[in-house]
Amino acid sequence: MKPRHYLQFTDVSRSEYEYLLERTHWIKSQFKHYKPYHPLADRTLAMIFEKQSTRTRLSFEAGMQQLGGSAIFLNTRDTQLGRGEPVEDMAQVVSRMVDIVMIRTFEQEIIERFAASSRVPVINGLTNEYHPCQVMGDIFTYIEHRGPISGRTVAWIGDSNNVCNTWMQAAEIFDFKLHVSTPPGYEVEAERAGNYGRSHCEQFSDPMQAARGADLVTTDVWTSMGFEAEDAERKRDFGDWQVDAEMMKLAAADALFMHCLPAHRGEEVSAGVIDGPQSVVWDEAENRMHTQKALMEFLLLGKVA
Ligand code: CP
Ligand code: NVA
Repeated sequence: MKPRHYLQFTDVSRSEYEYLLERTHWIKSQFKHYKPYHPLADRTLAMIFEKQSTRTRLSFEAGMQQLGGSAIFLNTRDTQLGRGEPVEDMAQVVSRMVDIVMIRTFEQEIIERFAASSRVPVINGLTNEYHPCQVMGDIFTYIEHRGPISGRTVAWIGDSNNVCNTWMQAAEIFDFKLHVSTPPGYEVEAERAGNYGRSHCEQFSDPMQAARGADLVTTDVWTSMGFEAEDAERKRDFGDWQVDAEMMKLAAADALFMHCLPAHRGEEVSAGVIDGPQSVVWDEAENRMHTQKALMEFLLLGKVA
């Protein structure tokens, strides 16, 4: 039987997300009450990183341990991947020794090739195109604070990057409105966003207008990993795309602020906003772990409740 992968947000249906979010709620509450839950005893997760990470590594590694399994960290520099071993060969070998794989890499095509040769489920821990685990955690966080996200408005301010593309996919699946504002020249490329979100996404040239009335305002770094050569140019181009107090005032009175982190205070977000009362960034970071635990359980065991 072919393994079930999670390579982009659209790989899971709305009803499966509803299950995963319920499951996350239960898994999180076990964790908060120090109740052991070890459904993945003796299972091993391989985590392959071709880019840096704090949260993704920590949340997958701690999460797998909490589920009774173990996690192995691999990176490009210390494996034969860095010396040109084909991705397909790596997938054949890794997937004979572990039960599930998480990969953070560059092009989406790399993770798709890996998954095509893998005997076990593969999870996208960030590619240039998508960051599905992030947005799943973010949606859980929104619901925890404010209830259903369906019918709400989310404002994405800044770069049309991997996280933005994933929000576009999520808007369609969860049926909320996404306002996107990027500087000229950095607009969403529908094809990179998987042609998703068109009916749920509105683009704004003015970031203030995008934030108006939003229930959630979210942003990310101006320069993503892999695009460092463009950093100076991006700093010039993105100057007006900072989420600050003035912008938050235009959003709904009870609007939340999210950022996948790491953040640059004074660039894409002011310190006052990210460290202020509307910000839920620390909950967002923690919830990565709980949602990913539910995801790993689902990919390995199917629905258990
Ligand atoms: N948000 C996120 O994925 O963080 P890391 O790059 O630290 O994993
Ligand atoms: N868009 C950012 C997200 C980091 C978690 C990047 O790709 O670097």
